[in-house]
Amino acid sequence: MDMTATTPPTPVTEVKLRADARRNRKRILEAAREQYAQHGLDVHVDRIARAAGVGVGTVYRHFPNKEDLLQALVDERFAFFAEVARNALDDPDPWNGFSTMMRESARVTAEDRAVSEAMDQQPGVCECSADKTSLREHGAEVVERAKAAGAPVEVDISKLELGQKIDVEWRGKVVWLIRRTPDMLANLPKLDPRLADPKSDSSQQPKDCKNEWRSIKPEMFVAVGICTHLGCSPTYRKEIAPADLGPDWLGGFFCPCHQSKFDLAGRVYRGVPAPLNLVVPPYKFASDAIVVVGEETKT
Ligand code: FES
Repeated sequence: MDMTATTPPTPVTEVKLRADARRNRKRILEAAREQYAQHGLDVHVDRIARAAGVGVGTVYRHFPNKEDLLQALVDERFAFFAEVARNALDDPDPWNGFSTMMRESARVTAEDRAVSEAMDQQPGVCECSADKTSLREHGAEVVERAKAAGAPVEVDISKLELGQKIDVEWRGKVVWLIRRTPDMLANLPKLDPRLADPKSDSSQQPKDCKNEWRSIKPEMFVAVGICTHLGCSPTYRKEIAPADLGPDWLGGFFCPCHQSKFDLAGRVYRGVPAPLNLVVPPYKFASDAIVVVGEETKT
């Protein structure tokens, strides 16, 4: 066998033909989707050909009958959903990945209603789609990841009094929500010299909480109620200068097991076992009265 033999190059005209054919196929599918949406699945092939700017013969060359055309649209749909599911698995936040996948599915299903109805009424077209298996597998994985991570939690804060704390559970952890008073906020900067990470440079919080209050709105503090030393839950000690915490205490959180102290923004004191500020979880305001723990504000 002559190993030096090379495959003859594809003639330029053939390459051009293939590119033209691909372009035509794409135009026919786009036109068919549009025409189905406007006139239903009974629309005549003439209309599709006209909308695509090709002859009827070209449509039949690509799709010998209308079932083939519908099948191609369904295949495209499944390929798109499978791609969305694959991207959702790459999202570091499982819940965000799941929400994006659901949003995209709902959007395409609503926008492309005729094909959606055909998929409902003619399940056979779905069974033949090659991407269905990968969608089923990836989609199931996206759902399992989101279930394991836990959904966002909506918290009604409308009745939260000044200085009051409520606890909610999010992803198996306790999360505190506290409505801080103006005095509590005014005391925060006074503690800076006594803190290990006053600007929260090494600590964990969403971008819109990296500020002097460690919160989106100054008065509303949201934090994971777990000490960054060994994971105990610190107690909320809002009183000023109690006997056991000393005259310098301006309110904060105290972890009794190894005496770690945090201020009312969850910032850790210097010289205590806990190395970092309390974690501020992702959260956003759905309205003035509703905080959603587990979802960040989109920027
Ligand atoms: S767990 Fe909080 S100080 Fe040890």
